[in-house]
Amino acid sequence: MTADAASRPAALAGAQSRRFVYLAAAFAGLGGLLFGYDTGVISGAQLFFVRDFSLSTFALEVMVTGGLAGAAISALLGGRLADRFGRRRLLIVTALIFAAGAIVCAAAISAPILFAGRVIVGLGIGLSSGAVPVYISEVSPPEARGWTVSLFQLSITVGILLAYLVDYAFVNVAGGWRWMFGLAIVPAAIFGFGMTFLPESPRWLAGRGRGELARSILARIRDTNHIDAEFGEIEASVAHAGEHGNWRDLLLANLRPALIVGIGLAVFQQITGINTVIYYAPTIIQSAGIPSASGAILTTAGIGVVNVLMTVVSMWLIDRVGRRPLLLTGIGGMIVTLGVLGWAFHGASPTGMLSWVAVISIMVYVASFAISLGPIFWLLIAEIYPLKVRNSAEGVAAAFNWGSNLLVSLTFLTLLQGIGATRTFWLYGVCAIGAWLFSYYLVPETKGQTLEQIEAFWRK
Ligand code: BGC
Repeated sequence: MTADAASRPAALAGAQSRRFVYLAAAFAGLGGLLFGYDTGVISGAQLFFVRDFSLSTFALEVMVTGGLAGAAISALLGGRLADRFGRRRLLIVTALIFAAGAIVCAAAISAPILFAGRVIVGLGIGLSSGAVPVYISEVSPPEARGWTVSLFQLSITVGILLAYLVDYAFVNVAGGWRWMFGLAIVPAAIFGFGMTFLPESPRWLAGRGRGELARSILARIRDTNHIDAEFGEIEASVAHAGEHGNWRDLLLANLRPALIVGIGLAVFQQITGINTVIYYAPTIIQSAGIPSASGAILTTAGIGVVNVLMTVVSMWLIDRVGRRPLLLTGIGGMIVTLGVLGWAFHGASPTGMLSWVAVISIMVYVASFAISLGPIFWLLIAEIYPLKVRNSAEGVAAAFNWGSNLLVSLTFLTLLQGIGATRTFWLYGVCAIGAWLFSYYLVPETKGQTLEQIEAFWRK
């Protein structure tokens, strides 16, 4: 047989298995879309429910951060739950929680009920951020894992953009905020329904002693019986894992470096300021000298589009050039643009040319985030941990991410008032320098390696 003929069945099987992975990643990715939609939607909806319920600024802050706190807690618990009950079952429950939250918010007749609805939605967001990336990473073949897990980030950015557009569409509808919150039920239903058709992660099954089922699912999703090598690696990692992991295992000496990488990236992803732009873009843009509300909203939508497009670029590059080069280049871009942005606000609010410098800096900053810290954080925390503690550790990193998000969201407006825009953006710039050094010295390259090879790397 010629080499060409020999490689044909493998290539065919490869194409088919990828088709399954696309499907699994697309459905699971809807968890990301709900994450993005539900975090983005509040920026427009708040203008209206604040009026209907006569909320004070403080009550609004409580409303916004209630969701983030819910997310931090459930990300932490969700990791453990996914380790115990399985990835798939947890994701189905997550879809139900998203749907329940959407209904409660849409039907809220008082501020406390709306708050309860936002906390429920927050629980869904945290669970999805804890379980979706791990599920996708565990069903994907190593050579495609980078871009398939990045579908999660892509869905987040599409969700944010969708939320901006829905907010815009319902601005002039009476009680429009109810629609803004309630429409999340559509993706929640598709997500939950789709997950019931997807199989459990073979890696989780193998870890629970259900090797036969794990093997048959792996053969089905790779659409070939040539899975001995991959299954052998899974079994070896299971054998090595021994007892099922608990919280204390996360602190074991050989896991500590991976834990530090995950938590570090989680914190840096937020303290470099991305959500000040995502949540407060219209305010920043208005103070950068584009006073009309429609101009500010349009520019915000532009930011949403840049975020989506550059995530696609990152997905295209991530399995080709690798995680580290993208991470270091993107964070480099964030450092420069935060520097320029701070400079543009120097003195007073920017006017004339300087307004454009500010707006372009924001766009390039978001683009730099979208090729680097955005997708790569969620990808790395789904792939760098050993099977034994994978979801718990991912949950811990996700919880740190939400906690830092909460901190930055709570302090941004205060910082602007207290130390001014220039110093605030430079502060995020200094954090970005920290993020670059951290990534340069501590983040490993995982491109093309199986999850089990990555696990062996940490053991060494
Ligand atoms: C972050 C979110 C952020 C989003 C923006 C995600 O990776 O975790 O906090 O809002 O990217 O695209």
